[in-house]
Amino acid sequence: MLYKNRIRSQAEYEAARLASIENPEAFWAEVASNLHWQKPWDKVLDWSFDPYEVKWFSGGKLNISENCLDRHLADRGDKTAIIFEPNDPKDLARRITYRELYFEVCKFANVLKRNGVRKGDRVCLYMPMIPALAVATLACARIGAIHSVVFAGFSANSMADRINDAACSVVITADGMSRGPKQIPLKRVVDEALDNCSTVNRVIVYNHLNWMPEMVSGRDVWWHEELQHVDSECPAEPMDAEDMLFILYTSGSTGKPKGVVHTCGGYATYVDYSFRNVFQIEENDIYWCTADIGWITGHSYLLYGPLMSGISSVMFEGIPTYPDPGRFWSVIDKHGVTVFYTAPTAIRSLMAAGIDHVLAFNLHSLRVLGSVGEPINEEAWHWYYLHVGKERCPVVDTWWQTETGGIMISAMAGVTASKPAHAGQPLPGIQPVLLNQEGQEIEGNDQEGYLAVKFPWPSMIRTTYGDHERCYQTYFSAYKNYYFTGDGARRDENGLYRIIGRVDDVINVSGHRFGTAEIENAINQNKHVIESAVVGYPHDIKGQGIYAFVICDKMPDNATQLREDIYETVSSEIGRIAKPDKIQFVTGLPKTRSGKIMRRILRKVAENELGSLGDTSTLLDPLIVDEIVAGKL
Ligand code: PRX
Repeated sequence: MLYKNRIRSQAEYEAARLASIENPEAFWAEVASNLHWQKPWDKVLDWSFDPYEVKWFSGGKLNISENCLDRHLADRGDKTAIIFEPNDPKDLARRITYRELYFEVCKFANVLKRNGVRKGDRVCLYMPMIPALAVATLACARIGAIHSVVFAGFSANSMADRINDAACSVVITADGMSRGPKQIPLKRVVDEALDNCSTVNRVIVYNHLNWMPEMVSGRDVWWHEELQHVDSECPAEPMDAEDMLFILYTSGSTGKPKGVVHTCGGYATYVDYSFRNVFQIEENDIYWCTADIGWITGHSYLLYGPLMSGISSVMFEGIPTYPDPGRFWSVIDKHGVTVFYTAPTAIRSLMAAGIDHVLAFNLHSLRVLGSVGEPINEEAWHWYYLHVGKERCPVVDTWWQTETGGIMISAMAGVTASKPAHAGQPLPGIQPVLLNQEGQEIEGNDQEGYLAVKFPWPSMIRTTYGDHERCYQTYFSAYKNYYFTGDGARRDENGLYRIIGRVDDVINVSGHRFGTAEIENAINQNKHVIESAVVGYPHDIKGQGIYAFVICDKMPDNATQLREDIYETVSSEIGRIAKPDKIQFVTGLPKTRSGKIMRRILRKVAENELGSLGDTSTLLDPLIVDEIVAGKL
């Protein structure tokens, strides 16, 4: 039953794609019927891109947690839902069955209710990659609270911004977390963030490391103590298809991250459909997505997708290189992973660590390999295919975004055409186009342009939280009647898409998005900094690195110290993950007479393409370019 609607051949794919274009409503109605709906929908789709409003499955009611848990109890109650692999390989892995997970979620949902959380309230989750995070997320969904998971690498300031933007009333966290050899005091970061948040009245703390942090009386409660007071029955709240399911913040080309909003019915439908089809999921798969739940990949394809399909999903607390670069391969061997989904950055860093780490383990259980988050270069693709997949496993290079909710362009493993470094063809139901500068569709193959989508799909962004106009301006105003992705792409002679990268001021570092303005704002908080300009440059491991050109109050005597100082500022403003890779101190920036920074020139310098800086004569001070080139790092 759960595996119906799975496309199993190129011919079936072509037929489904055609059907989805000819009669989208009939197509999506069939896809959505794979889920359990408490009440059927009245209308499949209402839409307009200008002004922007889409509604999928209006009138329908469902609950995603019921689709992840309750409906599996009869047939899969004793099946493993989550295999938890801890940070330290010496610690025991834990298996949680669907039934156990169901009870844990119900109980914690009652804890939330007991602490005043109601349908529609926003709850911030700032947690390690441990089963409690999955439980807390599903518990929010169960009672209709809107979860806003903040990746635990973000700083107190970033968390406070996100909490304030969504006016969260509750924060769920843990005492601390382990990441490789490091331990991070999460509760302390939450305390610091909450100094600047007035909407939070409750913090629920999970005891993970036995650290016993200070608890604020009247505000903080222990997760395990709260559990003593609740029972294990909690019916799933009937949610309207268009009720909000979650908010997830992501960076754009402006300084302030936006809260991408996804709703219940469309998101569940599309994630379920894309998951089963892209990975060609089988009942006995042991599936492992290495992303953190703090990112969209973790939401859609670590948590919701696998659980809706009723398969076993690995959740890993640690990092690929701890205690050594064989860790990923040892986990695949240990748990018999069949489908493995990771990011090019991880592949490149493990590739650099040498093949011996891979050869030490038995990877024969693998059936499908996936890649996500950034373009995968051919060298990494081949290494992955050859050394990890042993030339037996199809590689799916999945292109999508926080805003798209689910995978948009990708091969279906072993079923549809695939090619190294190409995402491939769109999933049936997805209608991508390439646009030229004027916003006209570029027809035919062997073409390059701006990647846009011309027809709605169920899991598309509904709004940016609290600011619908911003959503319209960001995604629907550049090209009227299209959703604009911000990516450039090429369609090869056979119609397969290759993603070239961002065409806006977004840098994709190790698959994580940052706006240049966001990083500049952070750098500018340092008391010595007067102005800065940030660009991306090709980085062997991270895909893109962050290169910052910085003007200080005076040229520093001790550049190393000042760099450290700026790293500190960025870590505290955004988080460790946004630290610039290179900081060059300059006395000026290349600006036009109207004061606009010519980033094109800075990008060329950062990319070391000094021969093609272009015309600099229109600059306010053309000589500054010589200084910048001379001081290049
Ligand atoms: O530039 C594209 C790149 O990542 C961006 C989306 O980032 P985010 O919302 O953080 O989501 C990442 C995980 C889905 C896109 O605009 N991107 C994502 N997947 C790929 C990719 N670039 C090339 N190939 C991919 N497979």
